[in-house]
Amino acid sequence: MESTLSRTVAAPMGRRVTRTAAAPTALHPTALDRLRTELVGLPPLQPLDPVDYAAGHALFEARSDQRSLLTAWLAARLARRAGGPTAVLSIGCGDGSVDAPLAAVLAAHGAVDYLAVEPHAPSGAAFLDRLGALDGVRAELVVGPFEGLAPVRPRDVVLAVHSLYYVADLGAALRHAAELLGPGGELLVLHAPLEPLNALVRELAPGRQQRFSADVLDELNSQGRRTQVERIDAVLDLSPTGDAETDRLLLDFTVQAQVPPALSAAVRAALLGRALPGPGLVLPHPVDAFVVAA
Ligand SMILES: C[S@@+](CC[C@H](N)C(=O)[O-])C[C@H]1O[C@@H](n2cnc3c(N)ncnc32)[C@H](O)[C@@H]1O
Repeated sequence: MESTLSRTVAAPMGRRVTRTAAAPTALHPTALDRLRTELVGLPPLQPLDPVDYAAGHALFEARSDQRSLLTAWLAARLARRAGGPTAVLSIGCGDGSVDAPLAAVLAAHGAVDYLAVEPHAPSGAAFLDRLGALDGVRAELVVGPFEGLAPVRPRDVVLAVHSLYYVADLGAALRHAAELLGPGGELLVLHAPLEPLNALVRELAPGRQQRFSADVLDELNSQGRRTQVERIDAVLDLSPTGDAETDRLLLDFTVQAQVPPALSAAVRAALLGRALPGPGLVLPHPVDAFVVAA
C-alpha cells in the first residue's frame, strides 16, 4: 500500500502573500485555557438555526480563498483524465457551485455523465440548474443520503467535497465510495484537518462527533487503499467588519454554534492566538485533498 503525505502550498490571496504561518498546530494555550474556564458551568452552546447557517456560510465563503483554491486543484486533477466519456459521482454536491466548473473542464474533452447524491432537495435543485446549463453534460440527482444510494454503473471519478463529516459511518462511506469506481477510476475526498479553527469547533460545536482528515487517512489505511494526500493551504479573514450582525454570523458559523455575547470576546481571543502575523484576524484555513486509486 502506498500512502504519502505531501504538501502543496497554494498562493495566498493578494495582500497576504508575505505572511507565514505563526506556530504549530495547537491553539494558543493561554487563550484556549481562558475560553475553557469561561465555558465551565455554561449550558452547551446551541446549534445554528438554518437561516443563520445559510447567511453565515455565505459570509464565511466570501472571506476565505479555500473554495477557489480547492476548485482549481480539482479542475487541474480532472483535466489530466479528460479525453473520453467520463462518469462522475459527487457525494453531497450542495448547490453544485464546485461541481459545475469541474463538469465544464471534463465536457471540454468529451461527454460527461455527472450524477450527484444530496439529501437537501433545494441545494440539489440548484445543482441541476447549474449543470443542466452546460453543453455535453448529462446531470442527474438522487435526493437522499449517500448511505442509501442504490447501485450505479461504475464511476471514473467519485468526489466528496466537505461532505463526509455528515455520514453516519465514515469507514463504511469510504468503502462504498471506493467500490463504485471502475478500472482506472479515482476517489477524490476534500476534508478539513484538525487545525486551529476546527480545534475550536471541536471545543464549542454542540452534538455530533467530529471526523477530520486524520480520521479519513486512518480509515483509508486500515482498508489498505492506495492513497495520496496533499495539503491545500488557504486563509480565512475574520477581521471585524464594522457591522456587529455580520461579525456575529461569521463567528457563529466559524465555530458552528451560537456563541453567547458574553463569550464572544474569549472566542475571538482564542482565534487571535492562532492568527497569522500581520494586521487583522487572518487564520490558516487548510484543506486536505485525498486521491484514492481504484
Ligand atoms: C459543506 S456542504 C458541501 C457541499 C458541496 N460539496 C460544496 O463543496 O459546495 C456538505 C453537503 O453534504 C450534504 N450531506 C449531508 N449529509 C449527507 C449524507 N449523508 N450523504 C451525502 N451528502 C450529505 C449536505 O446536505 C451538504 O450539501
